[in-house]
Amino acid sequence: MAGSELARLLGGGPRLTVGMITADLATLGSEVGILEAAGVEMLHIDVGDGVFCPLFTVGPPIVNAVRTPILKDVHLMIDDPLTKVDAFVAAGADMITFHVESARQPHRVLQVLRDATNANDPGRGIIRGIGVNPSTPLQVIEPLLDEVDYILVLAINPGWGGQGFLASTERRLAQAREMIRASGRPILLGIDGGVTRGNIEKVAAMGADVVVAGSAVFDGRAAAENVRYMLDRVAARRPVPTT
Ligand code: DX5
Ligand code: ZN
Repeated sequence: MAGSELARLLGGGPRLTVGMITADLATLGSEVGILEAAGVEMLHIDVGDGVFCPLFTVGPPIVNAVRTPILKDVHLMIDDPLTKVDAFVAAGADMITFHVESARQPHRVLQVLRDATNANDPGRGIIRGIGVNPSTPLQVIEPLLDEVDYILVLAINPGWGGQGFLASTERRLAQAREMIRASGRPILLGIDGGVTRGNIEKVAAMGADVVVAGSAVFDGRAAAENVRYMLDRVAARRPVPTT
């Protein structure tokens, strides 16, 4: 079970997880160092296989190569994850999100991840996420809520560049939030894709616990300034801690 880390992330959101695919992969270590210095808590690693979606990115070797104390939040946009999740667990993922559309037996994938041991800390498990694309009704994941720690709502169709944050996303987040409430289970809610400097304040107010931002941070120019900007807007939406 994901235990302590999940409990920490469930309280006091929203939090920013930063996508590294648009970072300078030739200097990934120092790019991740920028995030660590800024206080980012989660590194979002997008894994595309060109089958589930037209995105070829990175795999377990890169997950393993990144040395960082921040959580490795692995987003699998791959076909048939059941036979592949073990490699990402072994590579040091802290969170693994696969897509409900990608698995023939999604509940089985979640069972496999429930029994997995975190390679970074044997005292922890893996935070188990389920991703939902814009075409997929959220009701599809209802049967999985007993096995899920994290629901990731996609605000774009993954794999195609240059898309805007879909307007239907706010409604879908509210729907997912209601499903979580009705389940009575401790489940994180995340939003991924199309989050920019221009909409971060609006998105951070939509009630997600986790907000993904990739190209808004790693834009090839000013990652340190971008991440500060995005972190401040996300932090501004957190409840003021009661003394
Ligand atoms: C879909 C991926 C996203 C993407 C981040 O392609 O799941 O995480 O890399 O999207 P932007 O760059 O819009 O934040
Ligand atoms: Zn992603």
